[in-house]
Amino acid sequence: MLPGACRLVSAVDVHVTEELQQARVRSVFERRFGRPDLLVRSPGRINLIGEHVDASLGIVLPGAIDRAIWLALGARTDRGCRVLAADTGEVLEASIDGPGPAAPPWAAYVAGAFAELSGAGPLPAGVQCVFGGDLPIGAGLSSSAALTCGLAYGLNALFGLGHDRMALARLGQRVEHHHAGVQCGVMDQVASLLGRAGRVLRLDCRDLTYRYLPLADDLAIALCDSHVRRSLAADGTYNRRRAECEEGLAALRSRVPGVVSLRDVTAAMIEDARPSLAPAVYARCRYVIDEHQRVLTACAALARRDDDALGEALNASHRGLQHDFEVSCPALDVLAEAARGVQGVVGSRMMGAGFGGYTITLVRRDALPAYRARMAEVSRRVLGSEPVIHECRLSDGTEIVTS
Ligand code: GLA
Repeated sequence: MLPGACRLVSAVDVHVTEELQQARVRSVFERRFGRPDLLVRSPGRINLIGEHVDASLGIVLPGAIDRAIWLALGARTDRGCRVLAADTGEVLEASIDGPGPAAPPWAAYVAGAFAELSGAGPLPAGVQCVFGGDLPIGAGLSSSAALTCGLAYGLNALFGLGHDRMALARLGQRVEHHHAGVQCGVMDQVASLLGRAGRVLRLDCRDLTYRYLPLADDLAIALCDSHVRRSLAADGTYNRRRAECEEGLAALRSRVPGVVSLRDVTAAMIEDARPSLAPAVYARCRYVIDEHQRVLTACAALARRDDDALGEALNASHRGLQHDFEVSCPALDVLAEAARGVQGVVGSRMMGAGFGGYTITLVRRDALPAYRARMAEVSRRVLGSEPVIHECRLSDGTEIVTS
């Protein structure tokens, strides 16, 4: 579907890249199917902090980025669907009404979007779709949410279904739960659909309220690739961590009235319950509770521009993910630690579900050259791979780019 690794792209190249991606998807569609009815841009996401707390109804700080999937869409006169991945040539032939075949690997997201959108009644017609982009898969940048939400957003517009963005985000989450088998939270889908240029989103996953927080111009978000890839659906660890959190939650609920999610659990409560919990269950829950506090600390630090407090929250988040939630991997640990040693780096941590993908580093712009040099050296010497570093720009959420 998507290239396995991104090239080194600076912010100035981004516009050109976006235009190229868009033109490529459109031209593949035109060659196969004629003129598309609309073209949708659906971005990936970063998460500044608040990892693995969305499913426990906590607060998270994600944002949409300048890496995206583009989808060209056209309505058909029958009820068939043909969906083509421009990057791999894989094709899915299905009916808009029926469960699709299990292959290609992205079929579950496409068929899941059709099925969830049909929940309130059959969709008016089948569609043709070509999609492609520059969002690496399995890299923690939420390519699956971008594909699902971009398709749902496009069909919603094409057929005038009247869902708002938040409803589409929840629909995207249901696709993960019921069609891809990943019991995720709603962060990725909301970030992709509701992101805003230059802003992170302070999203409360309990009531789905959100507000936008600006990131100071002199701070850059840099992503560095560990070159380790994983599939949330295939390796099952994401769901195992969810189950461990649920086990801890059940024990706490039986002890403390009024607890609905780990969001409601304080450090004192979990310490009281510790003797009754398996050590791993205690560690997962303690991580979630601490991470949620770190999000609140980070929001306050962003508002008063306290880089030291913000950086410490990011760094502590990584330590928690590494030692308590246990979803990091050696390559991510090496990259995050090396970044922290660079003068001008505010903080660095692994990002997303874990076990591979990218680190996210907040770095003062004037320190970007030193950061890049250090990451390049560590990637080559320690990881044995060519550095892939992306200075990413916070972008607007899913949008129709042409119709
Ligand atoms: C994946 C899930 C999200 C979230 C992150 C970890 O991206 O889809 O819901 O849990 O992992 O923060």
